[in-house]
Amino acid sequence: MCGIIGYIGKKNSVPFLIEGLKKLEYRGYDSAGIAVAEKATVRRVRAVGKVAELEKAALLSDPKGNCGIGHTRWATHGKPSEENSHPHTDCTGEVVVVHNGIIENYLPLKEKLQALGHTFQSETDTEVIAHLIEENLKRVSADNEEQRLLRAVMKTSDELQGAFAYGVLWAKTPQQIIGVKNQSPLTVGLGEGENFLASDVPAFLKYTNKVLFLEDGQTVVLREKSAKVYGLDGQEIKVKPVKISWDQKTAEKGGYDHFMLKEIYDQPQALEDTLRTAKADFVRILGLKTEDLRRIKNVYLVACGTAYHAALIGKYYLENFAGVTASVDLASEFKYRTIPPAKDTLCIAVSQSGETADTLGAVKKAKELGFKRLAICNVLGSGLTRACGSVFYTHCGPEISVASTKAFTSQIISLYALAIFLGHASGNISQSQFGKLYKEMMALPKAVADTLKIEYDVRHLTRKIYKAERFIFLGRNVDYPIALEGALKLKEISYSSAEGFAAGEIKHGPISIIDKGTPVLVLMPKNHLFDKMLSACQECRARGAWVVAVTTPDGAEEAAAVTDKQIVVPKASEYLQPVLDVIALQFFAYWVAKRLGRDIDQPRNLAKSVTVE
Ligand code: G6P
Repeated sequence: MCGIIGYIGKKNSVPFLIEGLKKLEYRGYDSAGIAVAEKATVRRVRAVGKVAELEKAALLSDPKGNCGIGHTRWATHGKPSEENSHPHTDCTGEVVVVHNGIIENYLPLKEKLQALGHTFQSETDTEVIAHLIEENLKRVSADNEEQRLLRAVMKTSDELQGAFAYGVLWAKTPQQIIGVKNQSPLTVGLGEGENFLASDVPAFLKYTNKVLFLEDGQTVVLREKSAKVYGLDGQEIKVKPVKISWDQKTAEKGGYDHFMLKEIYDQPQALEDTLRTAKADFVRILGLKTEDLRRIKNVYLVACGTAYHAALIGKYYLENFAGVTASVDLASEFKYRTIPPAKDTLCIAVSQSGETADTLGAVKKAKELGFKRLAICNVLGSGLTRACGSVFYTHCGPEISVASTKAFTSQIISLYALAIFLGHASGNISQSQFGKLYKEMMALPKAVADTLKIEYDVRHLTRKIYKAERFIFLGRNVDYPIALEGALKLKEISYSSAEGFAAGEIKHGPISIIDKGTPVLVLMPKNHLFDKMLSACQECRARGAWVVAVTTPDGAEEAAAVTDKQIVVPKASEYLQPVLDVIALQFFAYWVAKRLGRDIDQPRNLAKSVTVE
């Protein structure tokens, strides 16, 4: 998993490459590099660490050229080191490659190439691509060098197995960059007299919003004034550019210290934007007529990480409102367990990026099983949206912080909307019930905006406990997944130990890890489960825990009697309450991490989208 960038135009490519890589750092950031066509050679600059390190190195060696490619890496094969940083070259140093994905057959290919006399400089799978192109350049013939490179690249792609998107620059053809896409994302930005290649749109959005989304098996040849796309058969294909409505500002921090905090504050807007299209979209995208909807009996939800927690809440929604049986699988588990084939089954894949390899794998399996497939996704044109028959977009804009916040609440509300529309269409809920639920749903963005006022209180209470060794989160029913999400958020960005439990389960084991002073955050809005949560608080307190209640105004007083601190969030209907409750935990994770001085937007060992299994 990595980020690729390419620039070709009239200007020096280096600033475009560095800037683009910074926008792609969310895809990985353990090392970075660029390669620029300079006269008849290609100059490479690479550095371990974030793109800022590469920028310093590039300033020193000052490469210049109007055609270049770059890469920010998240190591899969070989440790983060300068040798393993992209771009990689062939033996001549003239064929230069940047790659995102995994070449599954790189070992046999490497052995074959070594037997032919190729010398490898890195431990990466990527380097085989460069050497294979070098080899294939000898084997193909063409009228000119540009065509020869294209043929050699296409032949190389044929021999590669796995998921990959790669960019190629050849010293002999400095007027073109070639890009290939197969199961990893790759887009083209069409500018005025300049063109871009990138793993994702924010990399070039400042310069153009005209985008070509490449499909698997496509190869693109970028020149200053053209971008030609070729299919597997080598024939040119006309791909229609898409105009992206996100502007660059949306993708920037907007004055907050971190993208995560900005994105927490983006939530009212994100939900409003998502809901704006919900009604029309669900009727359209379900692409299903009422009789089809009535027939859906089983739903499998598949997702990873935070999206998995949204999916867990989706199960409550679908069973309660739509009256269908729903089960939730971690995508990585769904792929390998036995799923009985069943008619009238819908698989819902939830993913912010739409590029998570495990989720894509699960959807592939769902397709093989003959299930209908619906993606709930935030990224236009991503792999997942193409792998599913229908797509509902969460319109929350680019989410840059690795720790997901606004995508999570947008996913929850999308699943809620889906469940009530499905329930309405299938007759599981009456017109008047639907009307009430719909109204409550549309009021949620305002309630989220009100909830944001709790930041000060949350920030204040973290002062006392941010150094704790371990944190516990408890919830029940729809707040159980929120307890899991609160713990995940905290782990991701603070590196503290944190676990989420169903409150009823603590007596079955987890209570033994509670010690004097252990912070326990209890999700306890005043509802029919409130009394049970009061008991959970008492059980924890009796073991010395420092208990924080996340509750609603009508529960605050009773909660205060059995807890050490209370965070009071506005009250919503029972099923929408989790969206407000999680905001308390997002702020909590943020402020613990901030006090600990962590790298909040880019925590260690993580990446925003994990495009490898
Ligand atoms: C990575 C990220 C998580 C994210 C998960 C699923 O592991 O670090 O924050 O929740 O991927 O991502 P998706 O894009 O599929 O929602």
